[in-house]
Amino acid sequence: MDERLSARIKREIELEFQRRAAPPDFPALSDVPAGRYTDPAFFELERHHLWSRSWLMVAHREELPAPGSFRLCDETGHPILLVRGQDKRIRAFYNTCRHRGGPVVREAAGQARQLRCAYHSWTYDLEGQLIAVPDEHDFVGLDRSCRALIPVRCETFGGWVFINEDDAAPPLLESLAPIPEEWSDLEPSKLRFVERQSFDLACNWKAAMDAFLEVYHLKHIHPNTVNQLLDPRGTTMGLLPGGHSRMVSAVRPERRDGYGGGGGGLEIETAGEIPRIANLSYTLFPNLVTPLDVIGFPFLLFWPRDIRTTRFDVVWFGPNWGDGEVPDPLRSILRLFDGVLREDTENLPWIQRSLESPGFRGMPLSYQERRIYHFHEAIDRAIGPEKIPRSLRVEPHLGPWIENQTQA
Ligand code: FES
Ligand SMILES: [Fe+2]
Repeated sequence: MDERLSARIKREIELEFQRRAAPPDFPALSDVPAGRYTDPAFFELERHHLWSRSWLMVAHREELPAPGSFRLCDETGHPILLVRGQDKRIRAFYNTCRHRGGPVVREAAGQARQLRCAYHSWTYDLEGQLIAVPDEHDFVGLDRSCRALIPVRCETFGGWVFINEDDAAPPLLESLAPIPEEWSDLEPSKLRFVERQSFDLACNWKAAMDAFLEVYHLKHIHPNTVNQLLDPRGTTMGLLPGGHSRMVSAVRPERRDGYGGGGGGLEIETAGEIPRIANLSYTLFPNLVTPLDVIGFPFLLFWPRDIRTTRFDVVWFGPNWGDGEVPDPLRSILRLFDGVLREDTENLPWIQRSLESPGFRGMPLSYQERRIYHFHEAIDRAIGPEKIPRSLRVEPHLGPWIENQTQA
């Protein structure tokens, strides 16, 4: 993050402490319709137009360490295979055999010399080319070169591997702008993979995302944990293009000494000032939230299993600790963070039950919750508002509030 942006954020935090009302020109936000969390029609629209057209973070390169390492991603509706080729490049393919559609791999992750479909043993190399067909002489006119696995776009930011099923989407780094530049001081390509955990949450994926986009709930859901550390009044937000956003919250004065420490001295040495003096959190649209920290940080990923079940991945990255196991101080931070996540996630099944009640008519959002509204507007833009029944759309209000990248 450059100095201009750091200086602006610090100024904005000071102004937030003085603010006694929403800015006079901030719009009254329309209620977010209840059906966005409960209506199968909306879920289908997301399935067809959002998940298949977005850049989605599916792995870190250390999870595919060697040629032949593979992982299966079936979070977005279509099973997709990630595999590292002999040339060390990570590629993505539909996990669908070109014969009669058998799955090419069935394990969630593993190591293979070749990719052999278990149905009739058509075999592909690690670059997706069809290299062997049993009884090939009986397939009249079969041209193996036309039957390679179907590729899916796969690009990286730092060590993070993203896929996108949309051939027409802009390149990953362009889609994430300005985030790659704002994170450049963290040197993302040097960060190490620490661990991955997955849980199922009994709620719609957006109810789970919403819970991580504001600090209005800190006093109520985290009274003895995060609320002791952060002062929600000093929170500034940047609504970024593409549905992404940034939130920076002030650390309470009595906790400022040593903030950003606790990793046993291990930290991202190149990190700039903001993550050392404040809590810095980003949303990468559509489904990734990350509270960045100099000692290491998790990516929180929300995947729809069905309309009321979300798979929640918590994937940690940290500074390079050299050889050997993850150091204990970093491990202890992970376990502390688990407790905070429990406070958030225990609340969610209750919310979902209530969202499904006829007593829930829609959601009024405040200035402090504007990242949630921005996120919902971006969902509608991704789907195409004209495809969404009027009763399920959010009215676009926040276009003028998207951060102008030349402002400082
Ligand atoms: S379906 Fe894969 S070999 Fe037949
Ligand atoms: Fe929370």
